Amino acid sequence: MAGRIPKQFIDELIGRTDIVDLIGTRIQLKKAGREYKACCPFHDEKTPSFTVSQAKQFYHCFGCNAHGTALGFIMEYDRLEFVEAVETLAASMGMEVPHESGPSAPRRDPDLYPLLADAENFFRQQLKTNDRAVAYLKKRGLSGETAARFGIGYAADSWDELLKELGTDGKARERLVLAGLVIEKEQNKVYDRFRDRIMFPIRDSRGRCIGFGGRVLDKGEPKYLNSPETSLFHKGSELYGLYEARQENRDLARLIVVEGYMDVVGLAQHGICNAVATLGTATTNAHLRRLFQASEEVVFCFDGDRAGRAAAWRALENALPQTGGGHQLRFLFLPDGQDPDSLVRESGAETFASYMAQAETLSEYLIRHLGEQVDMSKLDGKARFAELARPLLRQIPAGAFRELLANEVAELAGAGDRLARQLAEDGDRPKRVPQRSRSSGRGDLVRQAVTTLLRYPAVAAHAGDTGWLLEMDGEGCRILRMLLEDALQNPDITTAMLLERHRDDDQSAALMKLAAAESLVDEEEAIAEFRDTLSILSRQSAANRLDTLLDTARKNELSADEKAELKDLLASRQSAGVAVDG
Ligand code: GTP
Ligand code: MN
Repeated sequence: MAGRIPKQFIDELIGRTDIVDLIGTRIQLKKAGREYKACCPFHDEKTPSFTVSQAKQFYHCFGCNAHGTALGFIMEYDRLEFVEAVETLAASMGMEVPHESGPSAPRRDPDLYPLLADAENFFRQQLKTNDRAVAYLKKRGLSGETAARFGIGYAADSWDELLKELGTDGKARERLVLAGLVIEKEQNKVYDRFRDRIMFPIRDSRGRCIGFGGRVLDKGEPKYLNSPETSLFHKGSELYGLYEARQENRDLARLIVVEGYMDVVGLAQHGICNAVATLGTATTNAHLRRLFQASEEVVFCFDGDRAGRAAAWRALENALPQTGGGHQLRFLFLPDGQDPDSLVRESGAETFASYMAQAETLSEYLIRHLGEQVDMSKLDGKARFAELARPLLRQIPAGAFRELLANEVAELAGAGDRLARQLAEDGDRPKRVPQRSRSSGRGDLVRQAVTTLLRYPAVAAHAGDTGWLLEMDGEGCRILRMLLEDALQNPDITTAMLLERHRDDDQSAALMKLAAAESLVDEEEAIAEFRDTLSILSRQSAANRLDTLLDTARKNELSADEKAELKDLLASRQSAGVAVDG
């Protein structure tokens, strides 16, 4: 089992990569001033708003707000997970990725693919010899052809049918456990996980079976049993039926996302071969990325019950940050009590298609849903409507889509252009100019210092004595200390290297955003600004300390050291001749 990739290696990798070369091998970049430009590969556009900064080793699209480092670009563009992106980048430079020893996420175990394929074949054989299972599938309207297309099988009503077939020795049994097909109770006590169930093989993008969903034939709990998480199978990112849909048609103009295995299979039975299902989980970002990669238009199709409506709204909220590009997202609600499988069986493919045609667009659904929560005939209701929309609009990348939707919300709220502009504004755009006035908040100053340090890590050398920073609490100060330390230890560190070092931190996304903001100053100005900002902060910190000490003094509780400190602080305040907060 491979371990974590050491931080130093990521540093070295990012240090050796030139993001301009790297992105240049994938899309055509044009030099524009100090930066490079192109039409953004992550959304549709005619005029280039995608910029690559060689100095920062960072890319940013002003249209859709995509941004990141060289590794981030590979992850997004090549649709890879982090470790795969590291491997790709390293391989392109002839570097070998080292792994630290120690516990870590298990890597894919390639030995398990043939084992799962054997299991799939075995379940398919078992189906042929079991009349009850065949009758069940017939009753649900499936032809042998459809069952074969999805590789549907049957796991016998037995504790060791699969074990007897594939677990002939200890080693084989161990691998069955790793594949999630067999459960180990105590030492050496093992039994089949799936018993008396219809088996749906779940495939990866290459068609290899990576896990199963199993449905009980009659009544029983749980109705569906999935493979557990294994080194090959991750429920949160897989889509049942995607491989089969792509086999049918490589260029899927549209994908339908349904809730269940039987919905995918039932629709295919009626010639609707572009449906996929999540595996009983909510729609994740990983799902959305895969869906948008496979098709231009995605229609979420939910059952008409309450659970379905709740799932739809969650899917909408999740999808907002990925909207505004060239993709179309729509939502379809079936009548209460129906799911795609039952609807298509009872009413046929044409009826299903007519429902499809009525699917709402994302903006229609968003507006309808918010409108249902307020009384739009009243002024208060309209105001509330706009307030409900505001945080959602902020999730949408800046661009035409967000503006149009903001306009519509403002119009429905009966307000003018000013509200529309306000709604379309990015709520958390970082401040560009440091506020040097007395009243500037500490948060702003810390954020300013972090931003400057991220853009020009070399300013760290001009920070002077930062001992006072240790006494300041708050998340911002923690980050500032962390970045300062990184930058002081490695004078050649770049923006991208800093960002990669903190990829796994809670604050990673916030740091990326700060790094993406346009820079208005050059390095020399940045140094001066950084010094100023730190000096205001340190004076604020001294003032706070002074307050504390004066307080203690009033209670006559000062130690000798504290007395000396208080004297120093008062003296330096006198000589500085300025009043600071507090
Ligand atoms: P049928 O009853 O066979 O038509 O299935 P359905 O898809 O209509 O069932 P339902 O709407 O209850 O479930 C939708 C999806 O949720 C299923 O395909 C499973 O992925 C998942 N699911 C349902 N029941 C369970 C369960 O008991 N356990 C787990 N883990 N997942 C379930
Ligand atoms: Mn159903």
